[in-house]
Amino acid sequence: MTLQSMSPASAFEPADPAGHLPEEPVAIASFQTHPTLQLRERWTEIPEIKTSTWRLAGHRIIAATRSHDTHLEIDVLRTKLMNKIRQNGWKTLGITSPRGGSGKTTLALNLAFSFAWQADFRVGLLDLDLRRPKIARVLNCEQSHDMEAFLRGQRSLAQGLIRYRNNLVIGTNAGPVQEPAELIMECVPGPVIERMREMLGLDLLLYDLPPMLACDDALAVLPGLDAMLLVAAAGETTMSELDMCERDLSAADKLAGIVLNKCRYLTERFGY
Ligand SMILES: Nc1ncnc2c1ncn2[C@@H]1O[C@H](COP(=O)(O)OP(=O)(O)O)[C@@H](O)[C@H]1O
Ligand SMILES: [Mg+2]
Repeated sequence: MTLQSMSPASAFEPADPAGHLPEEPVAIASFQTHPTLQLRERWTEIPEIKTSTWRLAGHRIIAATRSHDTHLEIDVLRTKLMNKIRQNGWKTLGITSPRGGSGKTTLALNLAFSFAWQADFRVGLLDLDLRRPKIARVLNCEQSHDMEAFLRGQRSLAQGLIRYRNNLVIGTNAGPVQEPAELIMECVPGPVIERMREMLGLDLLLYDLPPMLACDDALAVLPGLDAMLLVAAAGETTMSELDMCERDLSAADKLAGIVLNKCRYLTERFGY
């Protein structure tokens, strides 16, 4: 699978702020205190993302608006994954790479928005790059989300997540946490994640993870997820790095696929 290099923000359509400004903030309530709320109400309790489309495009997140042709490549990857998810009954998918800067976070967000185009598919994305969390910055989150507190059950869904429409929730993290691998081994998977999936009826949970060769966090989460997508950056990732990661993931029978990101030249494009 390949993804073509994305163009800079200037190539994208300007934002339509009116279309993306959220409505009034909704009341925050702990999900533990409202076990009988209907699914829809549980979703609407979660604050909406307030990010404008031009800001997303500036970070190469183009799958939310489909205002740039590259969304076709993201959608093709999404659909390939969707087929595997359905065939194998996967519920959790991690996204990692051999080294940092390969485009994991960018791809995780684009995939999440691409999955969300399917209205009857509910998807979650958690920022589990606990050493260098980035999703909050990309989405310009005002709330200071604390992933450790969330994973330890000290935050309600509405306090730990933000939502896009009624079928995508994203768990962000304001800053690095102490002992991230140990936190992951303790809490992922764990009762909080299980409850979140159940309360929100999630079909798929994506994890944005740190690079495999820089720390042990991605390996720590491996037993607790169904499959892992490996992102390589053209001209940056070496074959031996890719090989090392591929062997570990294949040995665990968790390799969902390899994405070659940041390709400058493709022989053909999608479309007709
Ligand atoms: N397909 C792409 N083409 C060009 N630049 C990209 C692409 N995907 C990501 N980037 C850029 O690469 C940098 C690192 O991306 P990021 O998603 O934060 O990587 P990671 O999460 O692997 O560290 C960012 O500046 C991002 O905008
Ligand atoms: Mg990242």
